[in-house]
Amino acid sequence: MSDSGSGTDVPVELLFLGGGRMGGALIGGLLGQGHPVESIAVVERETDRRAELTSTFPGLRVESTPVPARTVVVCTKPGDVLAALGEAATVGLERVVSIAAGVSTAAIEAVVGSVPVVRAMPNTPALLGEAATAVAAGSQAGPADLERAEALLAGVGTVVRVDESAMDAVTAVSGSGPAYVYLLAEHLAAAGEALGLPDELADALVRQTILGAARMLVETGDAAASLRAAVTSPGGTTAAAVAAFEDAEFDVMVRRAVEAAARRSAELGAEFGGDAAAGPMPDGR
Ligand SMILES: NC(=O)c1ccc[n+]([C@@H]2O[C@H](COP(=O)([O-])OP(=O)(O)OC[C@H]3O[C@@H](n4cnc5c(N)ncnc54)[C@H](OP(=O)(O)O)[C@@H]3O)[C@@H](O)[C@H]2O)c1
Repeated sequence: MSDSGSGTDVPVELLFLGGGRMGGALIGGLLGQGHPVESIAVVERETDRRAELTSTFPGLRVESTPVPARTVVVCTKPGDVLAALGEAATVGLERVVSIAAGVSTAAIEAVVGSVPVVRAMPNTPALLGEAATAVAAGSQAGPADLERAEALLAGVGTVVRVDESAMDAVTAVSGSGPAYVYLLAEHLAAAGEALGLPDELADALVRQTILGAARMLVETGDAAASLRAAVTSPGGTTAAAVAAFEDAEFDVMVRRAVEAAARRSAELGAEFGGDAAAGPMPDGR
């Protein structure tokens, strides 16, 4: 570990700007995959967080200001991205991967010049290594840059490629998506309680039901509609519930919610030096 300026002039392979929740999750993911700790450094401006990073990741180079780097991975809040990158660009960088929501590759390119920039949108299950991440190439990024970014983000979950113009839709589906599942969890547990189940028991049943259903979706690879049909006998209990969902136009409700998130993403993106292609975090970060 080093702190403030003890680095050499040899560029470090990966420099994280911001060692907060997502930066920490990505570093943990890479190290967990066997990535050598000597090839990673992190710049974190919070003193306490620097100490935390040092004790969580023994051997990690922890800095308070940028050092020369080949790939800079931007994990600050969107409002800090351009200033942090401006500083890192002065010290030296060869390419950028940004996970900051809502900051377009064009805005980043305007600060770092003509280096390859890849923008990514992970989601919070990254903290458990279960993110759904989309990556998009900026104007200077080629297939090799996308592959590098994918390898980096594969440490915290699965990765898909999209055009940057799809980032609002990605934000609305997978960025905000975990919250939709939590909302269903809340209502399902409350409905169980209304039928007389003790709170804790309803909560435990809901958590395991969502985990089990998610594993069925992922591990069988069957379509959601087929899995649903398989547990919906005509005239049975599930059929009664599905009919009630259909009466309430559940499909319309979900479509409207996702469209609202995408619209909000486009609006908020403009705040962070973005454009119509930019999208923020569900909570505006
Ligand atoms: N959380 C998610 O699920 C998620 C999903 C997709 C994308 N993202 C994106 O990931 C980014 C990080 O989110 P997070 O939840 O990890 O935030 P976070 O926990 O607040 O981490 C950001 C860290 O970067 C530090 N920082 C800010 N400016 C800096 C600079 N110039 N140099 C070095 N360090 C600096 C911050 O320090 P201070 O505390 O002093 O500000 C903070 O410790 C955001 O842009 C967000 O849009 C997050």
